[in-house]
Amino acid sequence: MRATVQNSICKRDTSLRALLEAINERPAGIAFIVDDANKLCGVMTDGDLRRLLLDGRDLGDSLRDVRLGDYVFAKLGEDIEHILSKLSSKVRIVPLVNDRGEVVDYFRYDQRLHVPVAMPDLGGNELRYVTDAVLSTWISSTGKYIDRFEQDFAAFCECLHGVTTSNGTVALHLALAALGVGPGDEVIVPDFTFAATANAVLHAGATPVIVDVEAESWCIDPAAVRDALSERTKAIIPVHIYGQPCDMDAIMDIAARNNLYVIEDAAEAHGARYKGRRVGTIGDIGCFSFYGNKVVTTGEGGMCVTNSDEHNASMRLLRDHGMSKDKRYWHEKIGFNYRMTNLQAALGCAQMERIDEILAFRQTVENRYRELLEPLGIVHLQRGDLPGRDKIVWLVSGTVVDGRRDELMRAMKDKGIDVRQTFYSLSDMDVYKQYAFSNKTSKMIAASGLSFPTHKDVDFDKLSAVLANL
Ligand SMILES: Cc1ncc(COP(=O)(O)O)c(C=O)c1O
Repeated sequence: MRATVQNSICKRDTSLRALLEAINERPAGIAFIVDDANKLCGVMTDGDLRRLLLDGRDLGDSLRDVRLGDYVFAKLGEDIEHILSKLSSKVRIVPLVNDRGEVVDYFRYDQRLHVPVAMPDLGGNELRYVTDAVLSTWISSTGKYIDRFEQDFAAFCECLHGVTTSNGTVALHLALAALGVGPGDEVIVPDFTFAATANAVLHAGATPVIVDVEAESWCIDPAAVRDALSERTKAIIPVHIYGQPCDMDAIMDIAARNNLYVIEDAAEAHGARYKGRRVGTIGDIGCFSFYGNKVVTTGEGGMCVTNSDEHNASMRLLRDHGMSKDKRYWHEKIGFNYRMTNLQAALGCAQMERIDEILAFRQTVENRYRELLEPLGIVHLQRGDLPGRDKIVWLVSGTVVDGRRDELMRAMKDKGIDVRQTFYSLSDMDVYKQYAFSNKTSKMIAASGLSFPTHKDVDFDKLSAVLANL
């Protein structure tokens, strides 16, 4: 038993004064209360003690006279996932007991023990700019950071206009609305994507037509798009999935021949290029997400980019209730409130200062995974060598061979490494089934896809140890 555990154990007949001393002096900052048979019967923190004193108890009172409240504990050797599930904002320490109920150790929450899949990198001017926005009192959707973020992001995308939105889902909806896509129209979307792509189409009142993806890129398959065309098709939403650019020449060719709009869902692909052009700028409008796990984050947030002055103006109008720019409270269209706040944009500006560094770092993380995983032959990471497609790294992702995904996930999770299965195939879910057109390859990818932690706290030594034991 660790000395700190021994020192944190208090008998039931301890005085509150002795308990206070125990809590004060022990590194665990908590006391484990045991009965006469040394069996755990409660835990006390300094907060519990403070409450007792405020309730009129005296430091001379015995703990035996106090009713001990509910507490959590775990059995020694219990699965780490179970133990983690017992933690909360209040419970950061879990006593571990043996078969006789005696405390023999404890588990203390340490962020480094639980390696999440994604973690925002806020190490630059983020705090400074947000503080500046707060101090300026410009905390709503007007302010210098909004304009700056729109300009910085459009410049990064090498295009003319950026229109910030409250999140990536409404960016897609705003784009559809600005292009006049609505009831009676069909919009072709990939089966392998985050549901927001299809939801935005449905919220616009149009019908998604869900089609299969390419095996090599995981992106919408142009041949499947061609098969799904109908006289009602109005638009295609290629999704640059997990940072991988779609085959945009083929998509744009289909769109041109059939007079269709192309809205690129680039939510996961900030900075990726297709034949030298930034994704998001090849179709009519490109949509990005700045959710907390994205390459650039503003907490929640999104942006539509476009080279069209007309689409830019329509989106700005609709984003702000359809209200005239020149005549306040005069509404030219029935619009939405899809505005981003100056606070979010302040974060975005700080992120844009380091975007190249962030992308380069994510690439080094993926390279490390490749070195580790490729020789094992269990995981095939997403292709990074498709001609003309310069993928970026969002979440390092791959497919696991021979149905071994669950085994790999379990092994990682046992060591506190949070791996995550990729998206389900949309057409597998009851709510989207009716819109399915084709889905053979996407089902295979969805059934075997896995994403790995992609941030600066990934411990590759720990990871290699897990992989070595598979
Ligand atoms: C492919 C895709 N499209 C759309 C979205 C929606 O973005 P948001 O979460 O910012 O609404 C996401 C984000 O999670 C996404 O991954």
